[in-house]
Amino acid sequence: MMYRAVGLGTRSRGLKPWVTVLLVVLSLAVVAVTIGLLAHFLVSGQKTEYYHGTFKILDARINSNSGQNGIYQLKDLKEMSEKLVDDIFIDSALNKHYIKNRVVRLTPEDDGVKADVIMVFQFPFAEQRAVRKKKIHSILNQKMRNTRALSINASSVQVNAMSSSTGKLTVQACCGKRIAPLIVNRIMSGDIAAKAAWPWQASLQRDNVHQCGATLISNTWLVTAAHCFKTNANPRQWTVSFGTTIDPPLMKRNVKRIILHERYHTPAREYDIAVVQFSPRVIFTDDIRRVCLPEASASFQPNSTVYITGFGALYYGGKSQNNLQEARLKIISDDVCKQPHVYGNDIKFGMFCAGYLEGTYDACRGDSGGPLVIKDLKDTWYLIGIVSWGDNCGQKNKPGVYTMVTYYRNWIVSKTGL
Ligand code: ARG
Repeated sequence: MMYRAVGLGTRSRGLKPWVTVLLVVLSLAVVAVTIGLLAHFLVSGQKTEYYHGTFKILDARINSNSGQNGIYQLKDLKEMSEKLVDDIFIDSALNKHYIKNRVVRLTPEDDGVKADVIMVFQFPFAEQRAVRKKKIHSILNQKMRNTRALSINASSVQVNAMSSSTGKLTVQACCGKRIAPLIVNRIMSGDIAAKAAWPWQASLQRDNVHQCGATLISNTWLVTAAHCFKTNANPRQWTVSFGTTIDPPLMKRNVKRIILHERYHTPAREYDIAVVQFSPRVIFTDDIRRVCLPEASASFQPNSTVYITGFGALYYGGKSQNNLQEARLKIISDDVCKQPHVYGNDIKFGMFCAGYLEGTYDACRGDSGGPLVIKDLKDTWYLIGIVSWGDNCGQKNKPGVYTMVTYYRNWIVSKTGL
């Protein structure tokens, strides 16, 4: 009764319930729009934009022994290029908008070195990207013409806008990180690898049949063993697949170039290293990602724990596996591995042994070219060995022998710029 009376009373004073509802909805909408506009002006008033630039550094070569005219160490050339781009924009009309740059790649070419640089700016949201792109290009082009720091072909300068998602990814493109937790052991009597556990593992296939392993070191380059191409080094017959199964593959690519170490000659086993370029490049995901390469000067202690992965046979004479296998090994010192009852003088420079003298875990046929990796304290993974050779598989006193990546680190730079 009471309730009804109040209701009637309200109605009789003129505000119908639907009007009240409408008013509430309207005022809520006004508040929402105000908050939205405020947020827009405050937060995204400045928008981070990424631009991809390329330019050619003339008469430059990358080499380990720098010092000679025009010959640089990769690290130095990268630093010099980044400093140059910094200087150019800090001393330009875009000074207030320029944030930073990262040289993400240096590619050796016939007449010099091509540099790929990601430039980061912050702009208010007005102007169009095409206009900005032009501005950035003209500043780079003009100032590179006049620079004395490096000799640059100004007409080689190109600039393109990048989406912020790829920009961010490329600027912080990290190596040697994986999302899967490490649970290993139990290749030769190893375990099946978890999805995304070894995202740098690739399978090299000739006429679509798995032949060798390989390791992703950039979005277009792999490292593998030279002996994989003993019978056929024609890139057109090779493809590369990613993922923890051969079939179905997570992704497949065509091989564009196969570069064998020029001093690799069968039947010798020295210089068992090759780099392979595929196309189109891959986009890194949790499942496909590059490993880190150690510095040439890095060294690794005997007895350190390392891991090998591959699609190779489970026993000598067996066949390749569809599921990626993994095994935990120990680095074996040269002193131990060069004993006469182990491999004696067959262990040459640029090789090292890993596994167990009692046998058990080992690589086997089909694992060749694949990675032997080590983890640092920050859980970053480094490629330190390439599956190369061994007597039989998993035999007593016959551990696996690996190409030492640090020994060939400068060779890898000279071919890939990485
Ligand atoms: N050379 C073999 C291949 O082509 C793999 C050698 C590794 N052998 C070993 N016992 N660790 O796949």
